Amino acid sequence: AQADEARAKKIAGGSCFLCHGAQGESTSEVFPRLAGQHAEYITKQLTAFKSGARKSTAMVEMVSKLTPDEMVALGKYYEKFVLPREEAKDPQLAAMGRYIFHNGNKFSGVPACVSCHGTNAEGAANLPRLAGQIPGYIHTQLKSFNKRERTNDNAVMHAVVEKMTELEMAAVAEYVSSK
Ligand code: HEM
Ligand code: HEM
Repeated sequence: AQADEARAKKIAGGSCFLCHGAQGESTSEVFPRLAGQHAEYITKQLTAFKSGARKSTAMVEMVSKLTPDEMVALGKYYEKFVLPREEAKDPQLAAMGRYIFHNGNKFSGVPACVSCHGTNAEGAANLPRLAGQIPGYIHTQLKSFNKRERTNDNAVMHAVVEKMTELEMAAVAEYVSSK
């Protein structure tokens, strides 16, 4: 296990840091934060990039040489980092997002996110942590589910976003990022 950790550290420090930050603390909305993300979910996504099930020009190159063991080790590596909590930049938008996250939109049929992503958006195993993620990245992923561009194993999220408006997507992204 120690050898795996050293291996993960070497890979992370050799290439992943360029986009995701040295401790998975990315500050760009193009690159998701990996700090504190669940190991199982990270491994699952790396596997999906490698099989081509999840598309990303940047990531397909990165995973091409990773072994399954290295993908597991990288997941465990990033899961350990904890980022400082950040205040929402737009508190009113976040307040709207808070409502949707916990209640969904019963008028249009958007389900509550809390039922899968957890009370504090902390997620679990294959349910990604959304807390502390960059709002712009979350918003982009929601749109990508909506356009069926992110297709890997995402029937659930496709159904979730189907009835969401742009404003609701932006609001919920603003809310969870400050959790
Ligand atoms: C997404 C890991 C290197 C660019 C992701 C995700 C993971 C990951 C787990 C999905 C996160 C999520 O769904 O929340 C890694 C690892 C790397 C690495 C372990 C090193 C081996 C890089 C590099 C770049 C990059 C060097 C830039 C050239 C991206 C982009 C996405 C992404 C753009 C988002 C893809 C999308 O929009 O769906 N990465 N990454 N990654 N990564 Fe990396
Ligand atoms: C993935 C947001 C509701 C299950 C995601 C991701 C986002 C998201 C942004 C991608 C995270 C990343 O790339 O790091 C939301 C929002 C919701 C919601 C805003 C409420 C409006 C739900 C519900 C379920 C669910 C109700 C379960 C029934 C999942 C699963 C994934 C996921 C399983 C991972 C998919 C994969 O492995 O690629 N969600 N979600 N979500 N969500 Fe949700």
